[in-house]
Amino acid sequence: MGMIKWGRRSRAALSLTTTALLTTTALAALSTGAEAADTLGSAAAGKGRYFGTAVAANYLGEAPYVSTLNTEFTSVTPENEMKWDAVERSRGTFTYGSADQIVNHALGRGMQVRGHTLVWHSQLPSWVSGLGASDLRSAMNNHITQVMQHWKGKIHSWDVVNEAFQDGNSGARRSSPFQDKLGNGFIEEAFRTARAADPAAKLCYNDYNTDGVNAKSNAVYNMVRDFKSRGVPIDCVGFQSHFNSASPVPSDYQANLQRFADLGVDVQITELDIEGSGTSQATSYSNVVRACLAVTRCTGITVWGITDKYSWRASGTPLLFDSNYAKKPAYTAVLTALGGSSDGGGGTPGAACTATYTKSAEWSDRYNGTVTVRAGSAAISTWSVTVTLTPPQKVSTTWNGTPSWDSSGNVMTMRPNGNGSLAAGASTSFGFTVMKNGSSAAPSIGACTAS
Ligand code: G3I
Repeated sequence: MGMIKWGRRSRAALSLTTTALLTTTALAALSTGAEAADTLGSAAAGKGRYFGTAVAANYLGEAPYVSTLNTEFTSVTPENEMKWDAVERSRGTFTYGSADQIVNHALGRGMQVRGHTLVWHSQLPSWVSGLGASDLRSAMNNHITQVMQHWKGKIHSWDVVNEAFQDGNSGARRSSPFQDKLGNGFIEEAFRTARAADPAAKLCYNDYNTDGVNAKSNAVYNMVRDFKSRGVPIDCVGFQSHFNSASPVPSDYQANLQRFADLGVDVQITELDIEGSGTSQATSYSNVVRACLAVTRCTGITVWGITDKYSWRASGTPLLFDSNYAKKPAYTAVLTALGGSSDGGGGTPGAACTATYTKSAEWSDRYNGTVTVRAGSAAISTWSVTVTLTPPQKVSTTWNGTPSWDSSGNVMTMRPNGNGSLAAGASTSFGFTVMKNGSSAAPSIGACTAS
């Protein structure tokens, strides 16, 4: 992952010096039987749910972003890349590149994809708002059909219509080109068109400020009840769940999810973020997770981003990982609420491994390290090893493993790519390049943990 592209000149210089400087030093051979930590995705899977995140294609080149995504999440939602202005900026010309990047990344790693979103008043190109009614109807249906067919069979749930109701107490539909020109029936029409385009995808209505029982959620509830009674195809309702101190997790959150589920639809938490920090933020996150788990038809949770630094409201630090990808108290609260454990929980009897470090190459500005992980006298199913650098050293690239970093950026925890099982006595190795930034110190290799 994240391999550096070397220039021709530097590549030649490297090959001259590599052999001369090659040194091999076994610095660490440690073992413990501590069990590897659970992840959000694995803990949620234990409860029959997915745990997803919004992803922006722009950041897929950033190593800690990708490693956190790959390690922790089992579902992704493209944050902006499937919206109308991204895929059909000009009428009839569809551009799927950025969204495809996300979809391919996810499906290639066994993650699911939520489609977001087909019919929404925002991020709508101006050509759509300029159309007359009959043209708008065919543009809407064509958009739904083309986009869904492009990813046919690849999207587990689509937000077919997003945010079609007004805030406040009116219970009315929001004014939009669709509402204003096509009337109330546009939502039903969008769902029927969507069902025909990809019958395997679950079709969701998605909105915010509908998380508790209120006038807006009542209006959505009435629409869903009507759809179910008339056979309009709808499978799920998304509750965005953007919370902060002015809009906290409602006390009737679970009851509200349950009443929708009782209509015969799945419910999903689709854009969860909670502004705040520390214990109060952690408690709110925990309450949301526990509410979902208490509702059988709450099939998964998606947080609206991985790291605070890329949140749409970064200043509110609303996510589970801080700007350095360190796990926040909110992370631990979510993991615990999902029944997972971050401390290993006592280990697996007999499972053990050793980690042995080798400096495999060195240049004036950087060196390569290789760590060999060997199973003890019993087979293991996974392992992890920490590598601690001396600041201001930085890891610039890694291979044969999935890294994550602590908040300082100095401690890298390496886990296997995919299947980490090793037979008794068998070994594997991972590697990394360290930019010295003035320090030639060797890394310190922590205990190898196995389960
Ligand atoms: O990519 C351009 C960049 O090139 C340009 O320089 C910059 C200047 O403004 O804009 C960038 O695009 C921004 C885009 O996010 C990517 O960062 C848009 O301006 C900005 O409007 C857009 O905001 C998105 C917002 O939806 C738009 O309504 C947020 O990322 C996205 O998180 C947010 O997501 C919505 C859900 O789709 C629906 N529910 C609410 C949720 C939060 O607002």
